[in-house]
Amino acid sequence: MNAKIALTPGDGIGPEVVNEARLVLEAVAQRHGHKFNFSEHLLGGCAIDAKGTAMPDETLAACQAADAVLLGAVGGPKWDDPQAAVRPEQGLLAIRKALGLYANVRPVRPYPSLAKLSPLKPERVAGVDFVVIRELTGGLYFGTPKGRTMTPEGERAVDTLIYTDWEIRRIVRLAFQLAQKRRKFVTSVDKANVLESSRLWRKVAIEVGREFPDVKLEHQLVDSCAMRLITHAPQFDVIVTENMFGDILTDEAAVLAGSLGVLPSASLGAGKHGLYEPIHGSAPDIAGKGIANPVGTILSVALLLRHSLGLETEAVEVEAAVNLALEEGKHTADLGTKTPLSTTQMGEAIRERLAHGIIHRQHD
Ligand code: IPM
Ligand code: MG
Repeated sequence: MNAKIALTPGDGIGPEVVNEARLVLEAVAQRHGHKFNFSEHLLGGCAIDAKGTAMPDETLAACQAADAVLLGAVGGPKWDDPQAAVRPEQGLLAIRKALGLYANVRPVRPYPSLAKLSPLKPERVAGVDFVVIRELTGGLYFGTPKGRTMTPEGERAVDTLIYTDWEIRRIVRLAFQLAQKRRKFVTSVDKANVLESSRLWRKVAIEVGREFPDVKLEHQLVDSCAMRLITHAPQFDVIVTENMFGDILTDEAAVLAGSLGVLPSASLGAGKHGLYEPIHGSAPDIAGKGIANPVGTILSVALLLRHSLGLETEAVEVEAAVNLALEEGKHTADLGTKTPLSTTQMGEAIRERLAHGIIHRQHD
């Protein structure tokens, strides 16, 4: 197949991990006779430096024209001035919004070989396999009014948590559809004991639930869900929640996997178009050192192959190669090892196993 893939490596470790992920895509293309056309574009802090805006028009146009976007990470101390008029994160939010990617899919399935890295007891992590569906283009991140004003009482800041029923319906429906292919259990997370927007969320979730009689629906308050992610994580199947709750809960969920560095994400909208990125940030403290873990980005490539290109076999191969590399003790520094691999060595280890991964697994 022919596909156009737009790369937005971004800032910090973004370019390092995206480079390894691109090499994986090239290896997949070679193995299966696909043709992937890559183009690279500025987004985030690097775009602010070069163009004065976090999401240049050229970047948006290229991302719109591509079949899928692979993103590294944006942000860093250089652009962190709270007074700054433009911020790298604006680029990320703007591109999600402009591409209509309202659903952020974050699977959490810890690798048994990394279980010892989690600060949780092994029995709390064993069997954990859930997906968080985070609403991505609404809520506090985008609601208006938003901003700061001077008032006679002092300086005031406002953010608005706003949802309209159709925004809730489409994301909750997606969660149910996914649950139908899994263990048929949806946990809808809200703060309905306090927030009006959450009471609407819950009402809509119940309505959508009636369309899916084969899927069980439970509601959890976000504070209690945060606790249960630590105490009862194996119980979850599909978690669906609004933008900011999802942001917070997915960083928490990453603890179960042992390292932020190994978790991928897909941001999807109505069609097959999608944006794929690791859930970790730009890690400015280790940027340029060649030690970042490329696994989260490489697993994002697997999601890209699956969701945007419909290449399930290729996606499974990438996931199997990552699994095999990790099981064989191929670890970057964040995965706690005496002999850590560099970013490029880890990428190489995964690409080497791409060809042999599945064969190997059959002999296990
Ligand atoms: C994420 C990040 C972003 C978010 C930031 C960088 C704007 O934390 O993708 O989870 O809050 O969505
Ligand atoms: Mg986050």
